[in-house]
Amino acid sequence: MRLEGKTALITGSDQGIGQGIAIRFAQEGANVVVNYRRNEKGAEETKTRIEQLGRHAAIVQADVSQVAETRRLLRDGIKALGPVDILVNNAGMEINADFVDVTEEDYRRVIDTNMTSAFFLTQEFARHRREEKRPGRVINISSVHEELPFPHFTAYVMSKAGMKLMMRNLAIELAPLGITVNNIAPGAIETPINRKLFENKELLDALMENIPLKRIGKPEDVAGIAVFLASSDADYVTGASIFVDGGLLWNYSEQ
Ligand code: BGC
Repeated sequence: MRLEGKTALITGSDQGIGQGIAIRFAQEGANVVVNYRRNEKGAEETKTRIEQLGRHAAIVQADVSQVAETRRLLRDGIKALGPVDILVNNAGMEINADFVDVTEEDYRRVIDTNMTSAFFLTQEFARHRREEKRPGRVINISSVHEELPFPHFTAYVMSKAGMKLMMRNLAIELAPLGITVNNIAPGAIETPINRKLFENKELLDALMENIPLKRIGKPEDVAGIAVFLASSDADYVTGASIFVDGGLLWNYSEQ
């Protein structure tokens, strides 16, 4: 087991990639603070799975798009399970809209949920690790769209690109505290964020054309990389983005 004795906080761990990471972390020996915004049932399911693996889990409801909520989330997590060693900024959302139609409200929801949340939760986490005088790990779940354009999702790509430079900056600034900061950049993973895509065969077939490995990813494909980044195997890795996309990002061919 690679995460024995560690405690992780994973935002949005009631479903999708966050839930997959939470369960994999528990398999590797970690206790997990499970966070959700609305899907209480999903969070309960994650908790049960963790406890079946003989680990501790605590659920903390919080809307991480609200700065005060990020602070409370970490404090409540520590109260329940003790000091937190690993932070996974996973919670995210996207809204499909033509640029000319995007509302201010939708723009802010996407930016705040995906990027502002990671900024302030990481800040709170860094303060916590500094007080504890202990090292830490920050893992952001960004996207291939931290690099790749995604028309009709402009606020989304801005939030993920912002996460990329935030990660690189913090890798330097938090290094003296012994905190490493890395991104995992998933491609098309089957989760609730893109349910609409999976209900539309035409869209799905077109997407498959762009994926050299010819399959959609699973949350477990991402979770294995998260375990690696959280484990001592990655002690010397900071400031990196690891793409988990079946080759989608750099796929180009003329034949
Ligand atoms: C998005 C998905 C999209 C995938 C590949 C992800 O970041 O959330 O909607 O299918 O990237 O483009």
